Amino acid sequence: MNIKVKMKNSYKKLFLIIFLSILIVFIYGSKFQFQEPKYVGVTKCVSACHKTESQGKQLDIWKNSQHSKAWKTLETEQSKKIAIEKGYKENPTEIIECVKCHLLGREIKPDELTSTFEKEEGVQCESCHGPGSEYMKMSIMKDKNKCIEHGMIVYDNIESLCIICHNESSPTYKPFEFETSWNKIKHYKP
Ligand code: HEC
Ligand code: HEC
Ligand code: HEC
Repeated sequence: MNIKVKMKNSYKKLFLIIFLSILIVFIYGSKFQFQEPKYVGVTKCVSACHKTESQGKQLDIWKNSQHSKAWKTLETEQSKKIAIEKGYKENPTEIIECVKCHLLGREIKPDELTSTFEKEEGVQCESCHGPGSEYMKMSIMKDKNKCIEHGMIVYDNIESLCIICHNESSPTYKPFEFETSWNKIKHYKP
């Protein structure tokens, strides 16, 4: 009888310890995930900012560029033909090689996209500027150095960004003229 009570008590302790361990792992785990920048999508970038004339009309300039159509291009007959010629059986939107250049400029890691991110928006703000979940906060956005600490990417050499995708491994590669191309899509603050 006594032994049974003791056993019951030590089981209770054991359960308590396991429960607390799980809780700690959970809390620290989610905190860690929170700090890892994630992709939030165009709507988040332009909901408060980056669209008016005085801000520099980044939204319009990007919308009117081919970058905003890059995903839809993968759904065309032309894309399906290219994929078949390269020996693929899947749709181009399911082929990592195609998606890489027509979305983020690299492979997508699991869990780095939030629910507001839309692949259909193609090569978008965060494809070039880095995942925005942490630097989009107003308090951080105001300070360029803080933005960089929170995942924003800036470029000493802009062309080095472009040629991640504009290079000869593109099946439809057209020689890339940096000046002309950048003039078509640049969108500085006035
Ligand atoms: C290395 C990056 C890269 C890869 C890989 C890539 N693309 Fe592209 N794609 C581009 C770029 C950049 C353009 C714009 C113009 C060019 O071809 O240089 C483009 C343009 C296109 C176009 C439009 C061409 C036109 O003339 O309007 C189609 C269609 C296309 N890609 C399909 C695909 C398919 C299908 C795949 C996978 C088999 C793929 N791409 C893989 C970068 C890439
Ligand atoms: C193809 C790549 C690309 C895409 C897509 C893109 N940008 Fe940019 N953006 C750049 C580059 C390169 C610069 C130049 C400054 C730099 O090096 O960061 C820039 C500059 C800017 C600036 C001005 C910074 C300044 O100091 O004047 C803002 C704001 C901006 N982008 C916001 C956006 C938003 C919002 C979107 C989406 C609607 C977007 N960008 C889409 C590459 C891109
Ligand atoms: C993440 C990959 C990626 C990056 C980075 C990127 N592009 Fe593109 N770009 C594309 C793809 C894909 C297309 C073709 C989209 C389509 O036609 O559907 C394209 C198309 C274009 C076009 C329209 C086609 C043309 O030749 O007129 C221009 C202009 C352009 N990009 C300029 C730039 C410049 C300038 C940079 C660097 C600041 C850049 N891109 C960076 C993927 C990229």
